[in-house]
Amino acid sequence: MLEMAKWISFPEDRGFEGLLFRKRFRTDREVRSAVLQITAHGCYEARLNGARVGEFVFAPGCTSLRRVQVQTYDVTKELQKDNCLDVLLSKGWFKGRISWRGNHDYPDMLPCILAQLQLTYADGGREILGTDGTWEAHPSRVRFTDFYDGEIYDATFSEEEWVPAVERDYSRTGLVAQQGPEVREQERLRPIRMIRTPKGETVVDFGQNLTGYFTVRVNARAGDRVSFSFAEELDSDGNFYTENYRAAKARFEYICREGEQEYTPKLAFWGYRYIRVDAFPGCVDRDSITAVAVHSELRRTGWLRSSSPLLNQLFQNIIWGQKGNFLDIPTDCPQRDERMGWTGDAEVFCKTAAYNYDVEAFFDKWLTDLRLDQTPDGGIPHVIPQLWDHSTTSAAWGDAAVIVPWQMYLAYGDRRLLARQYPSMKGYLEYIRTHTTTKDLWTGCPHFGDWLAMDGPVGDCKGATRMDFIASAFYAYSTSLVIRIGDILGRKTEKYRRLYERIVRAFRKTYPEYTTQTECVLALRFGLATDPGKTAAQLADMIRKNGNRLQTGFVGTPHLLHVLSDNGYTELAYTLLLQENFPSWLYSVKRGATTIWEHWDGRNEKGEFWSASMNSFNHYAFGSVADWVYEVACGIRPVEEKPGFAQVVVEPHPTAQLDELEAIYDSRHGRIRSRWYRRDGTVRYEITVPVRATLVIEGKEYRVERGTYLF
Ligand code: BGC
Repeated sequence: MLEMAKWISFPEDRGFEGLLFRKRFRTDREVRSAVLQITAHGCYEARLNGARVGEFVFAPGCTSLRRVQVQTYDVTKELQKDNCLDVLLSKGWFKGRISWRGNHDYPDMLPCILAQLQLTYADGGREILGTDGTWEAHPSRVRFTDFYDGEIYDATFSEEEWVPAVERDYSRTGLVAQQGPEVREQERLRPIRMIRTPKGETVVDFGQNLTGYFTVRVNARAGDRVSFSFAEELDSDGNFYTENYRAAKARFEYICREGEQEYTPKLAFWGYRYIRVDAFPGCVDRDSITAVAVHSELRRTGWLRSSSPLLNQLFQNIIWGQKGNFLDIPTDCPQRDERMGWTGDAEVFCKTAAYNYDVEAFFDKWLTDLRLDQTPDGGIPHVIPQLWDHSTTSAAWGDAAVIVPWQMYLAYGDRRLLARQYPSMKGYLEYIRTHTTTKDLWTGCPHFGDWLAMDGPVGDCKGATRMDFIASAFYAYSTSLVIRIGDILGRKTEKYRRLYERIVRAFRKTYPEYTTQTECVLALRFGLATDPGKTAAQLADMIRKNGNRLQTGFVGTPHLLHVLSDNGYTELAYTLLLQENFPSWLYSVKRGATTIWEHWDGRNEKGEFWSASMNSFNHYAFGSVADWVYEVACGIRPVEEKPGFAQVVVEPHPTAQLDELEAIYDSRHGRIRSRWYRRDGTVRYEITVPVRATLVIEGKEYRVERGTYLF
C-alpha cells in the first residue's frame, strides 16, 4: 500500500504547531480519474485546489500505535490543469498530549504524512505522485493545536517561506485500509442565549453539552484577538466553571486579519455547553458563534419515548452522551485531560450503544485495536487503543474483551467477529489464571471495583463491593461466555466447562453472603446465587431501606434493573428508573443535565460540585440503563439462536407508574416497534415486527409472522 510514497516530515520538531505540506503539479493530458491515498502519524486535513478532500475530520483516526489507517478519496472533480495539493498536519492522537504520555513509543518520530495521488489519463496512461522530498513544508497559521489544550490560529501569519520536506524511512508496517466509520461534522447548534454572569463574564449558552468545535464569525481589524474558554457547567453562583477540565487547557485564540471573516478550527475538539468570550473585537451576539457537533458517522437505529418528560430528557441525554463520546473510539469523556478508550466504560455501555446506533463497524475497529494491544500474557490495557503507559488489567474493564464482541454478535449476528476475537478472549482468561492468587477465583490484583458507587467512604471512588468478589464474578461470567461462543464456533470447550464449574463452586463457597447492592446484582445476573429468590429479596430490601434508591457504580448499575425485573421486582425497577431524588438517573435531569453525568453526585442539592478532580458531565456509563428500557420495559430482545434480530422476542413489561412507553429499533432485518399505553384503565399494546417473532403479552405467548399486532 502506498508503494510510491515516502513518509515526509518537517526538517525539525515544530512542537505543537500545525504544519503544512504541499505539492504543486500540472496535468496537461485529459484525466479520467484521480485517486488520493493518504495517511499520517498525526491528524491531517487535505485540500486539493482549496477544496477539502473528503469529510473525515481527525483523519486518519485513532488506532493502536501498531497500525495506521489509510484513506482513499476520489478527487477527480477537484483536479484542474495547475494543481496544488496541500495537507495540514497536527500531532493528533499520535504525539499530542492525549493520555498524558507524550508518546514514549516513538520518541524519534516526528509527525509525518504518507500520500500518493494516482492519475489515470483518458489515453490509458497512468502517473503516480507520491510524497517525497519534492514536497514543500511550512509552519501554518495554526500556531498551536492539541486535543487537550485547544488551538491558537493567527490569520495574519504569512505562509511564504516554504522549505523542502524531509523524507523519512519510518516503518511502513501496519498500514491498513480505513476500517471504522469516519468522524464527521454532524450537527450545527445555534446559541440559545447569551449570559452575563455575576462576575461580569460574557457567556454563550448552546443549551446542550456536546463534543466538537465551532464556527466563529467576526468583523475585525488585522491583529484584533478573539479568545474563548469552554465549560460544561456554570457554578452555583452562575459563574463560568472550568476546574473539572483539570489539566486540559481547552482554549481557543484567534488573531484576526482585516475585515469580515469566518473560521472553524478542525484539528482540535472540545466538550462543552458554554463558551466564555474572553476577547472579541466589537459586539459578540448569537450570530457570532455556531457549535459544530462532531462524531463517528453512525446510523441511528433506536428511539425511546414515554409519557414522562423527565424520562424523555434522560433518553435524550443518553443519545447525546453517545454522540459526544463515539469519536472514532468509545471515550470515557470528551472534555478533560482524558478522552481515552476506557475499556470498562465501553463494556458497560456497548449494549445500549447497539440499540441507539449501528455500532458494529465502530466496535469491530476498536476490538481489532484491543487484540493488537493485548499484552503477551493476555492482559487487557485499561485504555484501548493503548495510548497510556499503565497496562495492568482490571476486572469488568478487561472483560470488554469478551463482553463487547458478545453484545455485537447478539445485536448483529456476525459469527466472524466472534471468531476474530476468540483467541483474545481465551488469552484474557489465561491472564486471570496466571495472575490470581487463588485458584479458580480472581484474587490479589488491583481493580477499579464498583467504580463511583455510592456505598464507599465519602470521596472514595471504588465503592464498598469487595474487589475480589467482582473479579471472581466476572471471571465466571466471561468463562461462561467463552463456552457459549466456543460452541457457536464449533470449538472444543470442555476445558472451559470444567473451569466454569470450578469457579462457580469456589465462588459459592467463598461468598455465601452478599454485603452490597452490587454483590446481589452480580450474583444474580451471572447465575452465581445459590438461592436467587432470597438474594433478589435481599436486594429489594436493601433498595427499599435506602429510600428506593440505588447505590451501585459502573459495575452494578448496568445490571441492576435487569436482575430486579428478572426476579419479580419489575415495579421496583421502574421506581428506581423514575426516582427523582438523589442518587438517581432523574436527579441529574432535574438539575438540568443534557448529557449523562460521570457521578451520581456530580452536583449536590445546593448545586455544589462533588469535586473538581474527577467530575465529567458527559460520561455515558450510567446511560447503560437504556438497554433495560429497550429490552425489558418495551421488551425488544434478540434471540440467541437467531442473533442479529433474525428472529425477535417482544415481551413488554408495562408499569402503573407510567402511562405510555415506546421503543423503536431499526434492526438489520427491519423496524421493530413496541408501544404500550393505558386507555380506560387497561394497557394496550402495539407491536410491529419485521420477521417471525414471539410476542409475550402479560405472560401469554403468541407466535407471529411479520406484521403489526394490537392487544
Ligand atoms: C475514567 C473512567 C474510567 C476510570 C477507571 C476514569 O478516570 O474517566 O471512566 O473507567 O478512570 O476507573
